[in-house]
Amino acid sequence: MNPATKRTGTPQPGAHLRLVSDRAAGPQPGITLSGVSKTYRSRDGDVPSLRPLDFHINEGEFFVVVGPSGCGKSTLLKMISGLLPPSSGEILVEGERVTKPHGNVGIVFQNSLLLPWRSILGNVMLPIDMKRLPRERYLQRAKELLKLVGLAARWTP
Ligand SMILES: Nc1ncnc2c1ncn2[C@@H]1O[C@H](COP(=O)(O)OP(=O)(O)OP(=O)(O)O)[C@@H](O)[C@H]1O
Ligand SMILES: [Mg+2]
Repeated sequence: MNPATKRTGTPQPGAHLRLVSDRAAGPQPGITLSGVSKTYRSRDGDVPSLRPLDFHINEGEFFVVVGPSGCGKSTLLKMISGLLPPSSGEILVEGERVTKPHGNVGIVFQNSLLLPWRSILGNVMLPIDMKRLPRERYLQRAKELLKLVGLAARWTP
């Protein structure tokens, strides 16, 4: 595990993320951030949300972002997944520069975000459907996962 960021001790709204590990980057492409910052532009003015960050996450490594509300955790994750452009710097995922949403990222949202018009199984299968992968190849696995969490009886297609 690489506990890479932590609260600086500055109370909100000045809380910001910073790197606390100086472990050297490994040889794998992984995820690399170079000088990545974010300032949101709003009607009330600029909101500096992330001070420039530089770090590398190796393939297979667990990376933890910890901090109080408003310190920029979601902002950081949205930028790595390509949902939000950084204000400065560059993000590489497996050697490719992130400029738009890409298929290498899965997000578990803070709030429950199930699609109410889909069954439980349909919600589990959503990423498969969105990627237009063959349903029959993944259906069994989806059912196994539902069984694992005690929802085997709820997989009406
Ligand atoms: N769309 C936006 N427009 C303007 N400011 C924003 C926007 N989204 C986030 N911010 C601001 O950017 C800062 C970082 O927000 P962010 O949501 O990344 O924090 P967080 O660490 O994920 O907080 P939480 O723990 O509450 O989820 C906050 O000051 C927030 O108010
Ligand atoms: Mg958040």
